[in-house]
Amino acid sequence: MSAPPATPVAVRLGKDIQGHELAALLTAVGWGEHGPAEMARAIRAWPATVHARVPETGALVGYLSAFSDSVSSTWLGELVVHPDFQRQGIATRMLRCLESHWPGLPVTVSALGNARHFFIANGYQTPRAEMTVLFKKPSQSPTAPPA
Ligand SMILES: CC(C)(COP(=O)(O)OP(=O)(O)OC[C@H]1O[C@@H](n2cnc3c(N)ncnc32)[C@H](O)[C@@H]1OP(=O)(O)O)[C@@H](O)C(=O)NCCC(=O)NCCS
Repeated sequence: MSAPPATPVAVRLGKDIQGHELAALLTAVGWGEHGPAEMARAIRAWPATVHARVPETGALVGYLSAFSDSVSSTWLGELVVHPDFQRQGIATRMLRCLESHWPGLPVTVSALGNARHFFIANGYQTPRAEMTVLFKKPSQSPTAPPA
């Protein structure tokens, strides 16, 4: 028996995303619980966000956030697709939408786990020069006063 046809999904660049919608999507992919106000602040802060919705219901099933200096580089932030909608080309469409917003610029991402397969399938490459992802938690600051 063939698989049922995929539900149509509309992909758009824009900020019309509610904080509670993003919080629910992040929880659905296993990225923990987040407050709606905190998520609304994050959506506002990113220079570009892309959303994927089921037109019939308006349900948010995909989200991508990114920053660019619009001159030399674009950096991806979050990219998530609801588990019930994965492997239907939705993240690929969101990525293309973002890439066409800032055309002609290299795009960098720190890919988590299996997501690297998705980026490689979309033409992303490991840099020739060694690159290490580093981060610092505020409590690790060497200039912070002793507790
Ligand atoms: C990574 C993610 C965004 C991909 O979304 P998606 O809509 O399923 O991706 P697409 O359908 O556009 O995938 C396109 C191609 O990428 C590759 N791909 C996607 N997910 C893959 C996976 N988990 N393993 C291996 N290859 C994968 C496949 O080649 C796929 O084509 P195919 O389905 O015809 O084989 C989604 O799995 C997700 O939300 N994961 C959890 C959150 C996450 O890890 N985000 C990335 C943080 S950097």
